[in-house]
Amino acid sequence: MNSRRNFIKKSAIVGAGISVVPNLTYGFSSKKDKLKVGLIGVGLRGTNHLTNLLQRDDIIVTAICDIDPARIKIAEKHISDKKHPKAQVFGKDDFDYKNLLALKEIDAIIIATPWLWHTRMAVDAMKAGKYTGVEVSAANTMEECWDLVNTHEETSSHLMILENVNYRRDILAVLNMVKQNVFGEMIHFRCGYQHDLRFVTLNDGKSAYGKGVEFGEKGISESAWRTQHSVLRNADVYPTHGAGPIAVMCDVNRGNRFVSMTSHATKSRGMHNYIVENGGKDHPNVKVNFKMGDIITSTIETAKGETIIVTHDVHLPRPYSLGFRVQGTKGLWEVDGNRIYIEGQSKKAHAWDEADEWLKKYDHPLWKKYGEHALGAGHGGMDWFVMNSFIESAKENIAPPMDAYDAAAWSAITPLSELSIENNGEPQDFPDFTRGNWIKRKPYNWMKDTY
Ligand SMILES: NC(=O)c1ccc[n+]([C@@H]2O[C@H](COP(=O)([O-])OP(=O)(O)OC[C@H]3O[C@@H](n4cnc5c(N)ncnc54)[C@H](O)[C@@H]3O)[C@@H](O)[C@H]2O)c1
Repeated sequence: MNSRRNFIKKSAIVGAGISVVPNLTYGFSSKKDKLKVGLIGVGLRGTNHLTNLLQRDDIIVTAICDIDPARIKIAEKHISDKKHPKAQVFGKDDFDYKNLLALKEIDAIIIATPWLWHTRMAVDAMKAGKYTGVEVSAANTMEECWDLVNTHEETSSHLMILENVNYRRDILAVLNMVKQNVFGEMIHFRCGYQHDLRFVTLNDGKSAYGKGVEFGEKGISESAWRTQHSVLRNADVYPTHGAGPIAVMCDVNRGNRFVSMTSHATKSRGMHNYIVENGGKDHPNVKVNFKMGDIITSTIETAKGETIIVTHDVHLPRPYSLGFRVQGTKGLWEVDGNRIYIEGQSKKAHAWDEADEWLKKYDHPLWKKYGEHALGAGHGGMDWFVMNSFIESAKENIAPPMDAYDAAAWSAITPLSELSIENNGEPQDFPDFTRGNWIKRKPYNWMKDTY
């Protein structure tokens, strides 16, 4: 497979910025030599990946797997609408994905299933020799974090955590500013997942974002599986949209690392109140005890002496924000308020500049080149970039920008926050998933304009 992949040479995308052309053309000499991709889980997220894949002419969706026949039907329609060849179908039971993984011709796998399946499927995919992409968060427990790292090392198969926020336009512009030392030496960061998910984690079982207060067996899409985590765990169960971008800004696992963390949880009110207000005080779910605090706040210390505050806030009414703040010895960016202050460079001393001018000045080369095309792809364009990066890395079978060590370190926030909360905020040490190699590992070149 490696020699075949070498033949699938990566080359520059022809015709950058060609948003008027529906399908991007990739620099392949032969139509036969395409990356063969299998998708496990074609729910809402998997279908989004599928539609991005189907825009490309350097891939074949060889197989799809989902236990829900309705989702398979939707995926098949997308494939035939785009006039791609029919994909083999799997999903007769929970473990049919293993039969998909047994297909020798598949090069790369994308996993977009409920969280409790991620590590198991990623481990099996790496063992089957596939270039593996896994949705966020990658792991639920510390044991699973180690499973990802150990399997990557034992098999030499690559694992990429598909963290799309790392490709958000403002994030990449701010990363550019960090790399160019605009903020000086990095000191402090804030980030998190602050998203009122009550209309997703509770629904009517008919439509994913419908009204209703059902979950579990009576729910549909994320309410069928995600809500159970809020019932059973008092932890930050979704840390990577915030921690991923910040980890890259401070070179975690490549010259720096997460060292320890303390976490605290508030009381839990949001889900209960929503059920009473929308389902009535006699609805059976009124009796459900949600263990997860409405706001979980964790503070991470890094080896280089920075702190990172990570917030999980999904049960209360609020507008969406990942709450980023990136601060160094010379100034800072705050996403809320869209503002930047750089000492000696901002228009006035002790006063904010609007961030727009700065973000435009430091726009990332990737966004300059492909932004127009990417914007049509969902989630403000970042979904196109993360999939492009996965496919291009897989075509060359090289280490991805966000690898098994990153997947483990970022996902470890979940079990460590749970332990810290259970022990009244006691500090918890991060394992060194790189086994000392973080000292000499070089940062990935995030500033190139290819992927
Ligand atoms: N990066 C992002 O911005 C983003 C956005 C949404 C979701 N996600 C992540 O994507 C993943 C999927 O989320 P979603 O919203 O698509 O959920 P979903 O419930 O819509 O889709 C999950 C799919 O997995 C299928 N499935 C479950 N068990 C399976 C098994 N054993 N074998 C095969 N298929 C199985 C389900 O039938 C379902 O179709 C989650 O990890 C979620 O956190 C990420």
